[in-house]
Amino acid sequence: MTKLLLRALAGETLPTPPIWMMRQAGRYLPEYMATRAQAGDFLSLCYNPDLATEVTLQPIRRFGFDAAILFADILLVPQALGADLWFVQGEGPRLSTISDKTGLEALKPVEAIHDTLSPIYETVRRLAGALPQETTLIGFAGAPWTVATYMIAGRGTPDQAPAHALKRDEPLIFDALIERLTEATIAYLSAQIDSGAEVVKLFDSWAGSLEGDDFDRYSLTPMRQIITSLKSTHPSVPIIAFPRGGGDRYAEAHAATGADCIALDQSVDADWAAAHVQINGCVQGNLAPEHMVTGGDALVSETRRIARAFSGGPHIFNLGHGITPDADPENVALMIETLRSG
Ligand code: CP3
Repeated sequence: MTKLLLRALAGETLPTPPIWMMRQAGRYLPEYMATRAQAGDFLSLCYNPDLATEVTLQPIRRFGFDAAILFADILLVPQALGADLWFVQGEGPRLSTISDKTGLEALKPVEAIHDTLSPIYETVRRLAGALPQETTLIGFAGAPWTVATYMIAGRGTPDQAPAHALKRDEPLIFDALIERLTEATIAYLSAQIDSGAEVVKLFDSWAGSLEGDDFDRYSLTPMRQIITSLKSTHPSVPIIAFPRGGGDRYAEAHAATGADCIALDQSVDADWAAAHVQINGCVQGNLAPEHMVTGGDALVSETRRIARAFSGGPHIFNLGHGITPDADPENVALMIETLRSG
């Protein structure tokens, strides 16, 4: 019996979709807060294989999701390339910035990333041995554009303006950074797969701010390069791509990236996506995360509507973005119960 998530990724239409949630291990869970306190802070948690394994397993124990996602962060790759990284409680990530040739040349070579990231591979190995046999282990990385936006601005930005400015003013430096991140991401995901990840996902959270040809050039193309490379060395490992905010351009995403599954954010209408994206292969999504806060009848009816819209093809049920810290775990249980009771 093959795992449900892998069956959907192989193109099978299932009576009940496999279910997991972005940020399923996180601050809405009291047990996560307790383990994070034990680790001291978020980054210490990411680099502690014992505790990172524990928090990855917490939502599996509590809810019985069909997949576990490795507990780590997309910004560990810039850190492994030599950037300074820290998290400001209640605000988010801060990094040293890259804006010129000197900054680019100061980055470590791709081979050096494993020195920093080896504890992450150890977490993957432990998870591969600890998960229930029906649960699929997902590894992940940020896509080059999204990771570059943080490396250039030094933090999250509403419109990614510093990265757009570098792309316009210093195209050679910008392209070299994207290329370095593409190579590092291939090395990082290959190592996760070699350690036991059964599926990998690329998060391009800020793809939506790329306009015109830039969407193809800086979101879809680097993802395709990563996927082509991983497929050549690990042909049987399915890959999920998440060009968040892609809008109508989601229709070309399977063909343009070569991904086995395209993750949809909640701004995409499910009926439209069934007709224009799911016809090309498996899709994942796309319940608005707000329902995990508000719950009630709206949660039940939206969950049913999305499951129905995608019921004619391969589908993985998920939120359109990560669950937020103010979510109620009871609402997560209600979503799962709604799906599994038909
Ligand atoms: O999904 C999971 O459960 C797996 C672990 C995971 C985390 N971050 C843990 C995390 C994954 C897959 C990510 C991806 C990630 N990280 C993305 C892409 C997905 C997305 O949300 O768009 C991005 C952009 C980041 C960078 C990042 N990490 C930001 C901007 C922040 C601060 C914002 C926030 O939610 O607090 C983080 C912190 C972070 N990453 C937390 C967790 C559980 C919260 C940290 C804490 O415990 O204080």
